[in-house]
Amino acid sequence: MTTAGGGWTLVASVHENNLYGKCTTGDRWSSQQGGSRNVPEGDGSWSNTVTFGTAEAATSDDFKNPGYYDITAENVAVWHVPNNELVEHWKLSSFLRYHTETKFLSLYRGNLYNLFKQFPVKYNVGSCPANHGPSVPVVYDVGDATSNHNLYGPHIRANTVPGFITFRAINTENAAMAICSGVKPTGCHNEHCCIGGGGHFPEGSPRQCGDFTSFDWDGYGTHIGWSASKQITEAAVLIFYR
Ligand code: G3P
Ligand code: CA
Ligand code: CA
Repeated sequence: MTTAGGGWTLVASVHENNLYGKCTTGDRWSSQQGGSRNVPEGDGSWSNTVTFGTAEAATSDDFKNPGYYDITAENVAVWHVPNNELVEHWKLSSFLRYHTETKFLSLYRGNLYNLFKQFPVKYNVGSCPANHGPSVPVVYDVGDATSNHNLYGPHIRANTVPGFITFRAINTENAAMAICSGVKPTGCHNEHCCIGGGGHFPEGSPRQCGDFTSFDWDGYGTHIGWSASKQITEAAVLIFYR
């Protein structure tokens, strides 16, 4: 933990247990209460101190430990690991691993809990593109910006630039999303590449509501139109701090 920049601490994982369920059980990083304008923040997990899951099961269910809000960190790392992998296989089976180096968390009181207090993941808090949170450049340890970009559907690739992690993106209908992994939006259909969210996604409601939002707009895992590939759809997103 004290050499080469220090060790990384796993603080959370965003896991999609059923993309066909639209803000149903297991959608802890969006809403387990249905998609409704009456629950604009959904379950509120991005900016509350509720914890859930276990590190061992972080690729099989959502995970959030007290480090998410307790640790004062500078950078984040993200791993995309296929669902249900055992801990000892995470490193080998992960197909994307990247991290920030700018110490951006220092500008947002040291962790994502505080960043999302400043940029609430809540329906109708702002509009696209004026009110996106920060986009931070990333350095890849496994994969690269292009391979990351290619895991999303062709339409959303044309509306994003690779090589960043973006926090609190908003879409055309003012739905809020927490993290766009590997990309910076240049358009407003961000529900096809960003994960986690508030409790209301007006377009086609509740079709876009859930932890992996609208990765399936043009079919599950089809990788055509606005739909993401099966590979990124069926992988947990692990979030580390240091
Ligand atoms: O986000 C895509 C949606 O707003 C439009 O979808 O099916 O009309 O291309 P579609
Ligand atoms: Ca989930
Ligand atoms: Ca849209």
